[in-house]
Amino acid sequence: ATDARANGGLSSFDFTEIEAGVDETHHVAEGYDADILLRWGDKLFADSPDFDPLNQTAAAQEKLFGYNNDYIGFIPLDGNPDHGLLVVNHEYTNAEIMFPKFASVVKETKDGKEEEKVKLGEYSKELVDIEMAAHGGTIVEIRKVDGKWQPVLDGKYNRRITAKTEMQLSGPVAGHERVKTPSDPTGKQVFGTINNCAGGVTAWGTYLMAEENFNGYFGGEIAEDHPEFKQLKRLGAPGGSYEWSKFYDRFDVSKEPTEANRFGWIVEVDVMDPNSVPKKRTAIGRFKHEGCESIVNKDGRVVLYSGDDERFDYVYKFVTKAAFNPNDRAANMDILDEGTLYVAKFEADGTVEWMPLIHGEGPLTEANGFASQAEILINTRLASDALGATKMDRPEDIQPNPKTGKVYVMLTNNTKRKADQVDAANPRAENAFGHIVEITETDGDYASTKSTWDVLLKCGDPSVAEVGASFSTATTKNGWFGMPDNCAIDADGRLWVATDGNNEKDTGRTDGIWAVDTEGDARGTSKLFFRVPVGAEMCGPSFNPTSDTFFVAVQHPGDAGLATFEAPATRWPDFKDDMPVRPAVLTITKQGGGKIG
Ligand code: FEO
Ligand code: CA
Ligand code: CA
Ligand code: CA
Repeated sequence: ATDARANGGLSSFDFTEIEAGVDETHHVAEGYDADILLRWGDKLFADSPDFDPLNQTAAAQEKLFGYNNDYIGFIPLDGNPDHGLLVVNHEYTNAEIMFPKFASVVKETKDGKEEEKVKLGEYSKELVDIEMAAHGGTIVEIRKVDGKWQPVLDGKYNRRITAKTEMQLSGPVAGHERVKTPSDPTGKQVFGTINNCAGGVTAWGTYLMAEENFNGYFGGEIAEDHPEFKQLKRLGAPGGSYEWSKFYDRFDVSKEPTEANRFGWIVEVDVMDPNSVPKKRTAIGRFKHEGCESIVNKDGRVVLYSGDDERFDYVYKFVTKAAFNPNDRAANMDILDEGTLYVAKFEADGTVEWMPLIHGEGPLTEANGFASQAEILINTRLASDALGATKMDRPEDIQPNPKTGKVYVMLTNNTKRKADQVDAANPRAENAFGHIVEITETDGDYASTKSTWDVLLKCGDPSVAEVGASFSTATTKNGWFGMPDNCAIDADGRLWVATDGNNEKDTGRTDGIWAVDTEGDARGTSKLFFRVPVGAEMCGPSFNPTSDTFFVAVQHPGDAGLATFEAPATRWPDFKDDMPVRPAVLTITKQGGGKIG
């Protein structure tokens, strides 16, 4: 594949670029409004209690907007672009800035050097329960009134999904021995979803929540000769980043070693029934799903793309067996249970081979430890290792573009790639700033098993030669970025990229949203549209169908340096002494109306 360095055509996006930088608030291009729609702790129901940050309870949190908003989807009601359901993932929690009097700054001596660090206090079960209630997702009716969006608190579809919500395992893995637990001998009933990073909305209006770093919630130890040890280790479980296993045996792998096999899936939620039981669609595989964006193929089958966000992990797509039925919503409700999962092999000649993960084909046999399709799906990473898929630089959001037949793969970074491990699709050693790969599906057939690919952008500061960035020469000092994470395609088929990590890497800029040209002379030209406050990452970008509203998620604001509840790096967005810093979703609209950008 060629390096797609552009010739410097001027951006086709019609807005004035903002200055990159770091400060305590957000910034949007002139002529646009960025309004706060929902913050952590905001009410979602007519009977929600007031948010009381000094006296938090799990019961209150279950009725309030959750923490760390990541994916955002918009599902119009009756086709109305100004009225619909907003679906939002709550990926994880930051105890040190969420809970009062819980974290403190302590001095520690490491390698003979004294260092300051933030230390958490002793967890109670109630604090763990608040964390569990702050995870999951929100479904809330919103509408535009006099040009401004607002939540509809008596909306009949409003719902909170948490780490305790009853769910079903569905598809080939449901009922398998390896997903049975002491409390669920059926192997079909699971409680909760966790670490929902990005996601998707299907053509039939369901909400897909991707389970990403679920390994971190599991504690305890598992013996090396335990049959689950190898695959759990491949996923980094138990990760021990939370204290849930102290209060819940199911999160302790020494007590319930198969519970972790019930996480790492794509969860489908029927948002039109607030009592529906969300389904974990096991046919789409088990790994650290970043997201799950989909498209209806020209033959009617549905194609879903999903990245496995880990250094040296893989890019996947899933093609349903059945076609989408546009005339009968109910007929689509279980089509994600049957189909073919493929993993990508990027060849140096610019082609990509989509290799099917099918029981009995190639190395995926019982003799190699894959006794059935269910075993392949539970051990998806091991199956893809056996197929020799291409080890990527942390695949994040993957977005099909319905206008062009192209698909954009965000590869956020991989500083562990050594010089002798570079390949055509991951061309930089110690890839600190990530890159974007563009797949062209053959003849606009998203189900194609042989596609082509190119590098759209190698990210980082183009003025530093060693970085090897490939932004076009028309890109200004504000227009480059590192660490692409999420992205969105607007109604005109144009690419917008959201980032995660520019603040930590001292790039002189916080994360934000950049508008990136992909076609014509301006290919590779990038322009800064919006930026987040200090400590935050940029998530969720999503347009309404007319692209006159841009929904964006500011995740973990204030999480910089030695931040605690009492001393966050910013008190965005309220800027009140008695209110903690709060993750929030914003709506961006153009003053006077019209399309964004
Ligand atoms: Fe939750 Fe891949 O970032
Ligand atoms: Ca992400
Ligand atoms: Ca996306
Ligand atoms: Ca991220």
